[in-house]
Amino acid sequence: MTPQTTIELRSGNAMPVLGLGTWQLTDHTAETIAKALELGYPMIDTSGDYGTQPGIGEGIERSGMARDAFFLVTKVEETDDAYQAVKDNLDQLKLDYADLMLIHRPPPQGPGTELWEGLMRARDEGLTRDIGVSNYSAGQIDALIEATQETPAVNQIEWSPFGHSDAMLRHAKAHRMVIQAYSPLTREKRLDDAVLKRVADSHGKTPAQVLIRWNLQLGTVPLPKANQEKHLHEDLDVFDFSLSDDEMNTLSQLNEHYSSLGRLPYI
Ligand SMILES: NC(=O)c1ccc[n+]([C@@H]2O[C@H](COP(=O)([O-])OP(=O)(O)OC[C@H]3O[C@@H](n4cnc5c(N)ncnc54)[C@H](OP(=O)(O)O)[C@@H]3O)[C@@H](O)[C@H]2O)c1
Repeated sequence: MTPQTTIELRSGNAMPVLGLGTWQLTDHTAETIAKALELGYPMIDTSGDYGTQPGIGEGIERSGMARDAFFLVTKVEETDDAYQAVKDNLDQLKLDYADLMLIHRPPPQGPGTELWEGLMRARDEGLTRDIGVSNYSAGQIDALIEATQETPAVNQIEWSPFGHSDAMLRHAKAHRMVIQAYSPLTREKRLDDAVLKRVADSHGKTPAQVLIRWNLQLGTVPLPKANQEKHLHEDLDVFDFSLSDDEMNTLSQLNEHYSSLGRLPYI
């Protein structure tokens, strides 16, 4: 595996195995994005409500990166007119298309059929290559598929050794959906866990790098966020070591359905 390794989406399109998160990437967004692309981050994750899209657009421009050299994920909000929100997001990003557009969270009532149809229209018109969801439970995904016959390419959910679900992973695999792991570093809250530290020390790596690597080997796609340049380097430097099966199991057993944001939306 390298930063250029990709995973195949159900559409047949290729998605990178790791991306940079940008929620609360508030300082110097354009510089950070240009730097991240230069370092080799192959994917950027954002959303209409992060406030980072204009800075990301500027960072992409500054980097001079060809459009097909990076993968851009963004999201529409549950209160949006989804089709219009796709266009607004692209305007802010100064891009002609996104690689992946997600419904940020399910609306309070129903699985979000209307939002989903707006994204399907945007995809059919070439405004995004693939469409998916975020913060959906297996039941909500099943209801969406039943209503529209269209399966999401991706479900983006909070996911780490401390909070994950075998049932959710099996459900995703059965539908050929990819899980993107948000808050993969537990927003720093569990980095000093003793088991995690022991595994990290034995590889000469940091706890954050082990959390990212655990996702890569599980086949889930981590989106670590980093403002600091030191962290940007560190989070990409995860392709020169592997966790053994025993270490993967030990880390997975740390599961306590932990959420750094309060609640795992899929449990
Ligand atoms: N779909 C959704 O509802 C949803 C929800 C939450 C997040 N997300 C996405 O997922 C991304 C990541 O999640 P997140 O931002 O919540 O949390 P995260 O990536 O788990 O943690 C980010 C924190 O970890 C620190 N950090 C980064 N690299 C580190 C390293 N190598 N060692 C120690 N600390 C390190 C960062 O510090 P510095 O910034 O100071 O470098 C920051 O404080 C978001 O940015 C967003 O794109 C999506």
